[in-house]
Amino acid sequence: MDLVDGRFTVVGLSALEVLDSRGHPTLQVQVRLGDGTTAVAGVPAGASTGSREAVEARDGDPDRYGGKGVLGAVAHVEGELRELACSRPWNSVEQLDAVMVDADGTANKSRFGVNAIVGVSMAVARAAAGGQELFQALRPPGVSPRLPVPHFNVLNGGVHAGNALDFQEFMIAPVGAPSFAEAVRAGAGVYAALGGLLRRAGHDTGLGDEGGFAPQLERPEEVLSLLVGAIEAAGYTAGREGVAIALDPAASEFYRDGAYHVAGQVLSSAEMIERYAQIVVDFPVWSIEDGLAEDDWGGWAKLTERLGDTTQIVGDDLFVTDPRIIAEAIDRGVGNAALIKPNQIGTVTETLEAMRTCRTAGYAQMVSHRSGETCDSFIADLAVGTGCGQLKSGAPARGERVAKYNRLLGIAADHPSLAYGLPEGVR
Ligand code: PGA
Ligand code: ZN
Repeated sequence: MDLVDGRFTVVGLSALEVLDSRGHPTLQVQVRLGDGTTAVAGVPAGASTGSREAVEARDGDPDRYGGKGVLGAVAHVEGELRELACSRPWNSVEQLDAVMVDADGTANKSRFGVNAIVGVSMAVARAAAGGQELFQALRPPGVSPRLPVPHFNVLNGGVHAGNALDFQEFMIAPVGAPSFAEAVRAGAGVYAALGGLLRRAGHDTGLGDEGGFAPQLERPEEVLSLLVGAIEAAGYTAGREGVAIALDPAASEFYRDGAYHVAGQVLSSAEMIERYAQIVVDFPVWSIEDGLAEDDWGGWAKLTERLGDTTQIVGDDLFVTDPRIIAEAIDRGVGNAALIKPNQIGTVTETLEAMRTCRTAGYAQMVSHRSGETCDSFIADLAVGTGCGQLKSGAPARGERVAKYNRLLGIAADHPSLAYGLPEGVR
């Protein structure tokens, strides 16, 4: 991070309990620096969380928001974290992040709550960027910023929708688009075409948590056929030269008693791997995230061996943006890419460390939103600054999703020399 020389002081820190895109409470954190700079950060929250993720502070009071209130986390920001942040000058955001992690003292940030810590970390990083664009302030030394391939989640299932679809996310990725703006146009065009196909086939066009359609479909292959139809109906080639497909089955959610439960079938780990092997032959699927469950490390190594040469195999629940777990995965040949979510690990510094670990090992990276979002677009800048080349932020619809894509359109317009697309070396 390029904030090392920026000595700053924090003179104000506060938080507010606000709503996320699902109607659940979350935090909005405000910071004021000694030079008068102010910044705000909105904290995201997930539904299909990995068991090793850092832990949110939720009040548990059944009389408020069904126990999901965050007044305790607000009190932590305005109590100990404010006292700590205002106690001394800081040479860098890293320094403040490290002191917060230390003061929390737990392995999973359960004392202050990851929602409190990540909100402070994001707000301070944004304020400390000063006159620079946030993506420039987040850029690691030696890395060239670039505009990421947007992964639009156009069809939702799993815990993000009330339908019978076991796979959670079906994304379209305009890998072959000539520019970020053209990628957004392709995403919106395919999304509209898909809506039309679904309506004409008599399907429900209600939406899931991430803005994708949530029709009553069951078999993943049926959805993939529809997606190919929508890509072509919108006038694009289905595949890496045009618009490719990416999956996030979020398999931990349908893994029970050592088996995968998909569309009424019960599959072993080996059978699930064969199912994916057939899917990538039959459909232009370029990336599979959480294809297997987070505690099926043996299966993960086999899946990577079987498909990793041709397909991106992304760990989300499995890696939880934890540099130590990612390092272990690299050692054991598990996956070839990591999903990056700042609120899984808890600070901007640790997020950048996870990304550095991936970069050094040649693992690809996709920066990601959560199913519960605000209109904060921090992750758009994170994706550009780190040059990772991939971002997923849900459908090309709904304010909290398009806030990130719109921020990227703004960056693209203001910085026309920025490259777009997958970085060199990503399969
Ligand atoms: P979540 O899902 O934000 O609900 O955890 C997103 C994902 O699994 O990638
Ligand atoms: Zn996921």
